[in-house]
Amino acid sequence: MNPDSVQSEGLQAIAVAPDTAALEQVRIALLGRKAPLVLALRELGSLPPEDRGPRGKVLNQVRQSLEAALDARESELEAAELDDRLRRDRIDVTLPGARVERGFAHLIEQTGREILEVLVGLGYRISDGPEVDTVYRNFDALNHAPTHPTRQATDTYYIDEHTVLRTHTSPMQIRTMQSQPPPVYMATMGRCYRRDTPDATHTAMFTQIEGLAVDRGLSLAHLKGTLLAFAREMFGADREVRLRPHFFPFTEPSVEVDVSCFNCARDGSPCRVCKGEGWVEVLGAGMVDPALFGYVEGYDPELWTGYAWGMGVERIAALRHAVPDIRWLWENDLRLMEQFG
Ligand code: DAH
Repeated sequence: MNPDSVQSEGLQAIAVAPDTAALEQVRIALLGRKAPLVLALRELGSLPPEDRGPRGKVLNQVRQSLEAALDARESELEAAELDDRLRRDRIDVTLPGARVERGFAHLIEQTGREILEVLVGLGYRISDGPEVDTVYRNFDALNHAPTHPTRQATDTYYIDEHTVLRTHTSPMQIRTMQSQPPPVYMATMGRCYRRDTPDATHTAMFTQIEGLAVDRGLSLAHLKGTLLAFAREMFGADREVRLRPHFFPFTEPSVEVDVSCFNCARDGSPCRVCKGEGWVEVLGAGMVDPALFGYVEGYDPELWTGYAWGMGVERIAALRHAVPDIRWLWENDLRLMEQFG
């Protein structure tokens, strides 16, 4: 074992070790248990006493110089590796962030909220009611004759003999009057169910908004004024409304309500919205039939009169946005939905 060459070769190996892992291998080779220098140091004891001192001094100097060089090189490599890691991991806070997709309400929900907003502005209070209701509230208390055709199981989803998926939001008229005395200004939105064959204007599940007003001295004029305000908010400031006689079991008189067409000059030329009629049917309405007050407490038909209406939210959304088929609103094809985001 030649201390000079161990030292010079060792220092050389330390100097060129490319990283801390390689340096650790060099350290083991130079100063590990089986390293020639270490073995030589261990064998010092077996040398003649007069040789031990000088030989030990040389070997220890070599060891110290190697240790010092290893430590220095290690600090150097660690610093370089840290620099490197920091450079690689650096976060550039000026880069644009990952875009978070924001959701938005479905067109049906958007349209419904917009309508409710108009009604709130007119003084109506919003109520929420169950989609499953009694036959009593869905039909009987709304003055449907026992033989009324929509009661049939071919038209209505029955849960059991006394319970249905509501076919309209009108049972909320009964719920409201059962839960509070007059006067009432109530609006509600919710899903309704009918065993209709789906087509461009019908789906088995749909969304309705119902309004009910009961107060002293209400007349058809108040109903018309209310619906005119609604029509102008939703379809444009210069709309008119028209009431046509109709029949509903729970209103007397009953009307269908048309809004003047918002899409054409109303001169009879072809129009995809009104078909050249100049008017578009938007809802059903009427004066609350006094017979309904007989199904609830505290509503004296001599003191109170009321009006009510019901409208399809899908229909109104489809009309306003020229969606030709309301089934599309339930298919949730994002190519359509995202146009309303
Ligand atoms: N419930 C009716 C329907 O679903 C809509 C309706 C008509 C509601 C007249 C009313 C009303 O409150 O007065 O066809």
